[in-house]
Amino acid sequence: MGEKKDIFAGSVIASPARGLKGTVTVPGDKSISHRSIILGSIATGVTEVEGFLEGEDNLSTLNAMRLMGVKIVRPEEDKVIVNGAGMAGLGEPPDCIDSGNSGTTARLLTGLLSAQPFFSVITGDSTLRKRSMKRVVEPLSMMGASISGRLNGSYLPLAISGRWLKGISYRTPVASAQLKSALLLAGIYAEGETVIEEPEKSRDHTERMLRAFGADIDVRGNAVRVRSTKTLNGCKIIVPGDISSAAFFMVGAAIAPESELLVKNVGINPTRTGIIKIIKRMGGTIDIENRREVSGEPVGDILVKSSRLKGIAISGAELLPAIDEFPVICVAAAFAEGTTTVSGAGELRVKESDRIAVMAESLASIGVEVKEKEDGIIIKGVGPGHVKKGVIKSHGDHRIAMALSMAALRSADGIGIEGAGCVDVSFPGFFSVLDSVRAS
Ligand code: S3P
Repeated sequence: MGEKKDIFAGSVIASPARGLKGTVTVPGDKSISHRSIILGSIATGVTEVEGFLEGEDNLSTLNAMRLMGVKIVRPEEDKVIVNGAGMAGLGEPPDCIDSGNSGTTARLLTGLLSAQPFFSVITGDSTLRKRSMKRVVEPLSMMGASISGRLNGSYLPLAISGRWLKGISYRTPVASAQLKSALLLAGIYAEGETVIEEPEKSRDHTERMLRAFGADIDVRGNAVRVRSTKTLNGCKIIVPGDISSAAFFMVGAAIAPESELLVKNVGINPTRTGIIKIIKRMGGTIDIENRREVSGEPVGDILVKSSRLKGIAISGAELLPAIDEFPVICVAAAFAEGTTTVSGAGELRVKESDRIAVMAESLASIGVEVKEKEDGIIIKGVGPGHVKKGVIKSHGDHRIAMALSMAALRSADGIGIEGAGCVDVSFPGFFSVLDSVRAS
């Protein structure tokens, strides 16, 4: 097992640029990469994954499955061969499972482990141990799971005594793909059927992939139903580029004055394309070309040109398919003309950092007028101007570091980013990719 990176380490100075030009590809989708390893591990036969994101978060999932005895080979960096152990083939992990910084690893595996006939302990890094697991533990306990942890089973480390589960019908209090996926992974082992209904539809990669692996699953509106499954069949998965990583480049190209950038091979699943709609509504010039379907997921190339953005009001429902893009949406808003308001997005306070507070603090420190709201933010854009020189802290949050690197493109004199090493969580090599398209 490799050394875990320190997400608070490393500083860079992100510099200004005239624009972003040329063609760029971004690493594989983080959500799809996690799911390919998990489902591949409990499938029968081989699952070959191409375009796997080699980020720290996904390596946490991969190492967890290895710890349960799954034979996983990586012939090339972005290629993974998972020799499925079968639905009943996982073994008791001889040590704690370390999810590192990855909420997806912790929550999805809590669902999976609840249904295994063995004991396991799952933990994570100092920031993940502060993020509540209650929303997952509660419904899993209703299915019969035995999970204990700090503060009534709310915080990692969680100790899980796997057991026989029964299906439930559950309306989730929030739209969360991690929660839905945890219940689906428990649901395929549970007796009878499990129905999960969300207030709004969160990303549906688990549903798509379960179907591709042959699970008995149907989706109706915001509700998903799975039945107890005997076998999943391993298959080939080609992972598209992550739209959440592409988003930094889309906004960077839009706000810098001399840009024309093609981001190739990006996943454009409708539960994830909120960022494209938001940039368009702000007046951005952005188009999707070469639309196609790969491994059950829609994919396209995204062309972005320099744009004069204007401030808009963004609701929680509009933000949901762009939930991870909040930091970079704030950067777009900082360079728009007029005011942008985000509301109904309290979930942002429980991500890798409190993203509302951290973006408010970061933008204020580079001279942007900003007001924090309990469930969102109000940002007064600088219009065609620049932001001032400043130093921001990533708070160990990869998306804060990358968003502020894009703000630096239109800064008078660069932005210092403390704790820039965290970009490896989802986008190893981010700064060299940015340099490769920088027109200065
Ligand atoms: C993810 C779901 C989202 C997202 C996270 C990845 C997933 O979290 O923010 O980065 O892969 O299921 P929530 O389920 O907490 O909304």
